[in-house]
Order: sequence, then C-alpha cells, then structure tokens
Amino acid sequence: MPSTTSIGLKLPLKSVVHYLQPVDDWLPIDKQVGIAGVINGLAMKVLFLDQSGQLGGAELSLTDVAKHFKHQGLVYLFEGGPFADKLAAAQVPYKVRQRPSLSISKESGLWQGLLSLRQLLPLVGEVAKMAQTYDLIYANTQKALVVGAMASVLARKPLVYHLRDILSAEHFSPINRRVAITLANTCATLVIANSQATRQAFMDAGGRPQLIKVVYNGFDPDQYEGQPLLRPVLQQQHAIQEGFWIGHFSRLSPWKGQHVLVDALQYLDEAVQVLLVGKALFGEDDYVQSLQAKILNFGLQDHVHFLGFRSDIPALMASCDLVAHTSTSPEPFGRVIIESMLSGCPVVAAKDGGATELIDHGKTGWLCPPNDPQQLAQMIGECQRQPQLRQKIATQARVQASQTFSLEQTNQVIAGLLQQHVRRTTSS
Ligand code: UDP
Ligand code: GLC
Repeated sequence: MPSTTSIGLKLPLKSVVHYLQPVDDWLPIDKQVGIAGVINGLAMKVLFLDQSGQLGGAELSLTDVAKHFKHQGLVYLFEGGPFADKLAAAQVPYKVRQRPSLSISKESGLWQGLLSLRQLLPLVGEVAKMAQTYDLIYANTQKALVVGAMASVLARKPLVYHLRDILSAEHFSPINRRVAITLANTCATLVIANSQATRQAFMDAGGRPQLIKVVYNGFDPDQYEGQPLLRPVLQQQHAIQEGFWIGHFSRLSPWKGQHVLVDALQYLDEAVQVLLVGKALFGEDDYVQSLQAKILNFGLQDHVHFLGFRSDIPALMASCDLVAHTSTSPEPFGRVIIESMLSGCPVVAAKDGGATELIDHGKTGWLCPPNDPQQLAQMIGECQRQPQLRQKIATQARVQASQTFSLEQTNQVIAGLLQQHVRRTTSS
C-alpha cells in the first residue's frame, strides 16, 4: 500500500520504512556547542545540503555559513570535488555521497525529471535518515531543495531553502521553476533570498511572499586587506604586459558574459590587458572554445589571458585596475562585485539583478547596460582616463561593502532566523 506524503508524493510503504532506518556511516560531529543557534538551551543542529562538488558562489557562501555552525552542523554533498576540500580546510564537518550524483540539469524537461526520480528516491531516503538527528534541513541549491523537501516530510523536520538563483526563464526550464516553487511553497518554513532581485523573481514565479526573507551574503573584510601585489609575478608567468589591467572573475559560462568583455576590447586602446580568472565548472567547454576562437579572430591573444581557477582572488583583484562583471542574464547576487570592493579595486557591472542592489552607480562603482560591448568600452575608457576617480570610488566602495556585507552580521541574522523557525515548528 503506498503512503502519501503531505506534498502528494506517493512512496511505497516498504521504501519509507527502509529509508527511516538509523544511519551509522556518517562522519562523527564534534559535540561542542558553538556560537551559533541555541534552542531551549540546546545547540541547534543543522543538516546542510548541496548538490555540487564544485566551488561556485553558492558553495563559497555556504562555507561561510556552515563555518558558523561547525560544532553542530553537517554539510552533506551529493558529489565530491574541490568543495569538499574547502570544507575540510575550514574544519566544517561534511560527508560526500558515495553513489553517483543526480543528472537533472537546469534545462531538464519533465521526462528527464521523471527518469531522475529513480536516482532521487534513495538519496531522499539517506537524507531523511540523517535528518532524524538534526533540528533543521537547510537546502542550498535547487536539487538540494528537491531532495530536502521530500526528506523533510519523511523526517518531519523543518526545511529552510537558501535561494541563490533567479527563478526566471533565462535561467531555468518551466518545469524546474514549477517544481522549485511548489516544493518551496508547500515544504519550506522559510526561504532565504540572496537579493531583492532573487526574492522578486521567486514571487513572480508564484512563490509565497510571506515565506521569503532577503539576507545578503556576508564577507570577512580582513581577508581582503593588505594583499601582496602580484603584478610582477603575473607579468612573468602569464606574459601579461604592463598597462591597464581589467580582471574578470567568474566561471567560464555564456551567461557570465566573458565574450562581452572581449567584444568591448575592439573599442579600447592597446594598453588594455584582460585577465580571465575562472574555469568552466559545469561542462561549458563549447563556450570556452568559442571564446578562444573569438580572441584569435580579433588578434587579441596578447591582450586576453586565461588564468584558470585560482584561490588567491583578493590578491589578484588588488593587482587589477578595474574589475568587469558582465553577466548577460540577471545576476542573483554576484559575490565577485563585493569582493572587488573589499579588495580596493573599482568595479563596473551589468545593470541587472542583484548587481543593482550592490553598487551605487557613480559612488561605489559603475553600472552598465548588460550585453552592450560598446557602452562597456566607453565606461572602461572613462575609468582608464581617470585614475583619481577610480581611487575615490574604490575607497568609498570598500567602506560601504565592509559595513553592509559583514559576515558576522549575516551569520547572526541567519542563525536568528533558523532558531525562530525551529522554535515555531517544535512548539506547533
Ligand atoms: N572564484 C574563485 N576562483 C576563480 C574564479 C572565481 O574562487 O578562479 C570565486 C569568486 O571569488 C566568487 C565565486 O567564485 O567568490 C563566484 O561567485 P559569484 O557569486 O560571483 O558567481 P557564481 O559563480 O556563484 O554565479
Ligand atoms: C549563486 C549566484 C550568485 C551568488 C551566489 C551566492 O551562485 O549565481 O549570483 O552570488 O549564488 O549567493
């Protein structure tokens, strides 16, 4: 006889019982009580879920949150990779799923979604079992939401969804948007959005307004202070000539718009050097090839330099004259923008999505129409000609970013929200 969960998911009863057996194979967690949430005098235990093993912005932001909960939290990753290494280095307890990961893509259709259910259910069971010893499930990505939502129903634990994506047609297929909204509306007790733009897109797609709160990502300003100047080393290692250095710090992906910056170079002078920092994290190899072909075609090989994925972002930013952020679809938040501000490098960003909330145009950076190489070139040219203005903007931006995007405050706000929601669920 099938059992119907409160979200209408029909599972064979046998499977439900099997999934709820106790787990014995996950990493031991330090039992100390940290500074994070405390409910009824006891430490609040949070089970974080993330689908990716790669180091994207969502994973870097989760590292900062999970560090705050490291004495009573566990990050469960659906696949291994550099993210697991980062958590290990930060001494955040984590566990990597041993079985193959889920193959649902952002553009997935219904058919693929149904096929993926077969892969999904065992994972839901694993998470539901683990969740028995936690107070809360915290889903950090969309696939994590799908798994976390079902597991939260089975384990009867509250679910928090940290929404870091703009749920629009530019980023997600209609079915994926519908699934995310339905699961969030029915299973989550709280949705945390990384910007107003993300929150608005959630509501436009049918998300319940009373469910969603905006909490901007936080950063530790100390990590961006007093960076070594890498210019001489970079000149040598990557044959970058002296001149006006523009850094682009993003995974190589069509919507991150590296091609817009390369196109803009046609309208700029010989002194400009572009550093593309990042690599294709999610199989965008065709895009990388098209980018390389474009550079070759324009004869820009001596002006555009691929630095690959780097872990010394603050020092690289501090070595640039300008950071360009060129997303062609609305950026949900854009960590790179705040990191540039904290590193003391002025930033010009595409005027859309979360970027418009982070930059006060002409005061803490510049906003440029997205996907418009000519306008971008014009703005870059103006910055290039005005070193004093760049310095002034960079100083103002640093002050503003360290005040508004403090990691300490962000973590306190998140801990407070999680506590409220656990309390509300335990007392109802
Ligand atoms: N990043 C990095 N190494 C690289 C390129 C990027 O560590 O080579 C980091 C960057 O500093 C930022 C994150 O990747 O913290 C990207 O986050 P963002 O929010 O800007 O965009 P996302 O990729 O998450 O959409
Ligand atoms: C996602 C978004 C990015 C945001 C990051 C952290 O990766 O694409 O804009 O900064 O999450 O919230």
